[in-house]
Amino acid sequence: MERSNPTKLKRLADLARIVRKLKEQGKKIVHCHGVFDLIHPGHIRHFSQAKKYGDILVVTITADAFVNKGPGRPVFKEDLRAEVLSSIEYVDYVTIVNSGSAILAINKIKPDFYVKGPDYKKRKVNPYVPQKLKSEEEAVSKWGGNLVFTEDVIFSSSQLINENLYVYPPATKMYLDNLKSKYSADFIINQLTGLRNLKILVIGDAIIDEYHYCLPTGKSSKEPVMVHQYIADETFIGGTLATANHLSALSDKVTLLTLLGKKRSYERFIKTKLKPTVVPIFFYQGNISTIIKRRYVDFYTKQKLFQLAFIKENFLSDKIERRIVRFLTREIGKYDLVIVNDFGHGLMSRKIIATICKSARFLCLNVQANSANYGFNVIVKYPRADFVCIDTQEIRLATHDQFGELPPLIKKIYTVMNCKMLIVTKGQEGSICYQKKRGFHEVPALTDRIVDRVGAGDALFAVTSPCVYSGLEDEITSFVGNIAGALQVQVVGNSKQIELIDLVRFITRLLK
Ligand SMILES: Nc1ncnc2c1ncn2[C@@H]1O[C@H](COP(=O)(O)OP(=O)(O)OP(=O)(O)O)[C@@H](O)[C@H]1O
Ligand SMILES: [Mg+2]
Repeated sequence: MERSNPTKLKRLADLARIVRKLKEQGKKIVHCHGVFDLIHPGHIRHFSQAKKYGDILVVTITADAFVNKGPGRPVFKEDLRAEVLSSIEYVDYVTIVNSGSAILAINKIKPDFYVKGPDYKKRKVNPYVPQKLKSEEEAVSKWGGNLVFTEDVIFSSSQLINENLYVYPPATKMYLDNLKSKYSADFIINQLTGLRNLKILVIGDAIIDEYHYCLPTGKSSKEPVMVHQYIADETFIGGTLATANHLSALSDKVTLLTLLGKKRSYERFIKTKLKPTVVPIFFYQGNISTIIKRRYVDFYTKQKLFQLAFIKENFLSDKIERRIVRFLTREIGKYDLVIVNDFGHGLMSRKIIATICKSARFLCLNVQANSANYGFNVIVKYPRADFVCIDTQEIRLATHDQFGELPPLIKKIYTVMNCKMLIVTKGQEGSICYQKKRGFHEVPALTDRIVDRVGAGDALFAVTSPCVYSGLEDEITSFVGNIAGALQVQVVGNSKQIELIDLVRFITRLLK
């Protein structure tokens, strides 16, 4: 198919060169950045006004993989979006940028004017947009440019899409319409920002997640095995370390208690990856390494081929256990809520559990089933909790019911744990929560783009815990939780943790 104006489409590096030459000729460069999924009259006027600031208008767009606007988005793939933009008279160059932010493009283009739409200017005091804009503005002024705004009627692509195109499955559309009729995005965002000062203690296993990317080269000539060639590897913090980072999206007062191995502790690496507001309290166990889960992953499809776990079983010594119990007995009452993320790898011993359950003022529990503990690590090993968040498999194991309907199992665990709220996550089917007074509430999954499902339940658990503690409506808690789950499945493992800005943007898009 013939592109409308192929000469306008450039790679970022080429565009940077072209722009440099144009600047040498005295031309003023104007830059707009966005997704531009559904071009509407507001965009056209935006570009026409933007162009008036200078001579050359460059539009950079976010590549599909970095668009974070909810299920079905972007509606139009990057090539098509670039094609539409390049056919607009005012636009001189178009580039697809492999980044979720404009900064990369700004640093290459070094525009004289970086232009945003009126919605950014007129948006009432909202701490998130200005923050994002602030870093873009800093990048622009670093190169001597100016941030300027266009003035016009505000059209929103997301609103037009939500109202006129069927991007969501019917059940999701119904769910979102109903939610929208009750709460505005601002209301939900305000509730979330009200959690900033909660004092939170997170306890659980520390995990180092390794991803080793490889590609098949062929069958071994000697053995019946497929040989793979190593391509690259990445290491992330996982387990409770990631949960603590997720929590820092909502609270500035997160303390993390976890256990590292003395042999290979990864402490320095962990400290560089923990968010600056997270206060770590490490206990060290001699003779073991910090738990590592190494995944061998197909480089192209990101499909997992094989997993290797470096976990020594039953490692907690009496001495370290006593120290942890002493610390908890002394400190636990100082926290508004205590979040236990139990992966069943040995830290959460009976004595530690008993201490936590006795003294935590508000206890949030996630007790995981995985290959290392299959069937043994169940929620009912804890005598009580205020909030329980587990997945479908985990509630079935805890109730010894493989096939029955979920609601009776949920009620059973709710009663046994004597909790105030219980969420069961259902992977691609979203989640179901239960509270005695309000009954059941189901939320559909909020994305259809899956990169890696690891850690989705932990992200949902982390962001819902402070919401439950603060008594937010179950509808809001579940919605925000599923947004966290959706954000998490869109990245490889724990390569990125939930940020408040991502939650805010996702909420805003879905409720437009
Ligand atoms: N395939 C998927 N498609 C869309 N959303 C998903 C998918 N998998 C997970 N999610 C989102 O993440 C949330 C939690 O996922 P899930 O139920 O898989 O947790 P989990 O089994 O505890 O995961 P983990 O233990 O790896 O953190 C879901 O409620 C949903 O919002
Ligand atoms: Mg889980």
